[in-house]
Amino acid sequence: MRDILAPEADRWRRLVSTFAGLVEGAAYQFVMTPLMEDAEVFARVGEATDVVQKEMYRFTDNGGRDLALRPEFTASVCRAFVEQRPPTPWKVWMAGSNFRYERPQRGRFRQFDQVDIEVLGSDDPYVDVEVIALGWRFLRVLGLRRVELLLNSLGEVAERAHYVDALSEYFGAHADTLSEASRQTLARNPLRVLDSKRPGDAELIAAAPTIAEFYGPRSAAHFDTVRAGLDQLAIPYRVAPGLVRGLDYYVRTAFEFAGGTLDSAQNALGGGGRYDGLVESLGGPPTPGIGFALGVDRILIACDDEGVFAPTEPELDAYVIDTTGGAEALAITEELRQAGLRAGRVFDGRSMKAQMKSADRSGAAFAVIVGTSELDAGQAVIRPLRRDERSQSVVARLDLVSSLTTAIESES
Ligand code: HAM
Repeated sequence: MRDILAPEADRWRRLVSTFAGLVEGAAYQFVMTPLMEDAEVFARVGEATDVVQKEMYRFTDNGGRDLALRPEFTASVCRAFVEQRPPTPWKVWMAGSNFRYERPQRGRFRQFDQVDIEVLGSDDPYVDVEVIALGWRFLRVLGLRRVELLLNSLGEVAERAHYVDALSEYFGAHADTLSEASRQTLARNPLRVLDSKRPGDAELIAAAPTIAEFYGPRSAAHFDTVRAGLDQLAIPYRVAPGLVRGLDYYVRTAFEFAGGTLDSAQNALGGGGRYDGLVESLGGPPTPGIGFALGVDRILIACDDEGVFAPTEPELDAYVIDTTGGAEALAITEELRQAGLRAGRVFDGRSMKAQMKSADRSGAAFAVIVGTSELDAGQAVIRPLRRDERSQSVVARLDLVSSLTTAIESES
């Protein structure tokens, strides 16, 4: 878990507000769910998944409840849907921290942030297209170019189940050539064997049955429409039959945004898909759903790698320098801030030289200087800090806000 300080924390917030602008412009409403839930809520993500088996921060609270810090948003959103029953389609977005007990490395943390959208109550393939397109567009808006959209359909529940049986049989028959780790995965979750990056498994995986052989007409048509919709929007993608995702609730559409710069185990900048049975498994009515989560930590690493969406230093309009005791600085900063200007000042009765140094460091466009002679004459000095300091002007104290505003406008 990490401390996120300036200017990174500011970039973090800018990322979330850029996301907010995009998804709110597409009629998604911001919602907040609790940071922890009954552990059972997350168990629906899949008893056979690492997220549930190994990575949950699960504990008993003082009241004896079995709780877990959220490892993701989707199960919480579905739980909220079951309890609140909002009208459908329910289109929501979220942002915040999630927790998984994973081995920390570049792009993998135990506390990490996601931005996320979910749509509950529609299985229209054009919803899938809208969701995928928003994720794609967001990464483009940040400036990322080395992103590949991987797309798959896992078929409907029964088709997926048949496929899992076929994989189990196939890999079972070749268990002696599988790596030890994959043999263990096979016993728990045959689909995840497809995720193995071990070189020895590659050949076997390449020759494994593919999910497409198991699609019925309905899921084939759904997938066709999703692909046609993406084509219509000119969003490039690659159909990746081995894309199974790490959570168990997916049916039909599944997708991932793979970054081009992180190690392959951490290169998913985000992913999502359909989870049409999840609401029902949490005690609600049959309700289709689809969404994605993007990993903020990873996206920012990718931005650094690609040299886009750089951190910016905070900008101030003015920095107030008062060598008369500090009360005048109190009055001036208050006036400036009330007028909507961004203003800083020095405390602790520092020398003129020390105050000027702070002003320079602050990145402010102007210093407003008040010494004893200015105070007595009812004046103040406005001195530009980013260009020739000799062009400073002396203004009437009463006109300070308007003079400064004019100076700022002529600067920009
Ligand atoms: P996920 O693939 O588990 O999906 O996570 C989505 C993204 O969160 C990943 O692609 C990655 O960028 C980021 N992420 C996950 N774990 C970590 C970690 N330990 N450190 C840093 N980043 C991480 C979900 O969470 C699903 N809830 C997505 C979804 C929404 N499906 C439907 N709706």
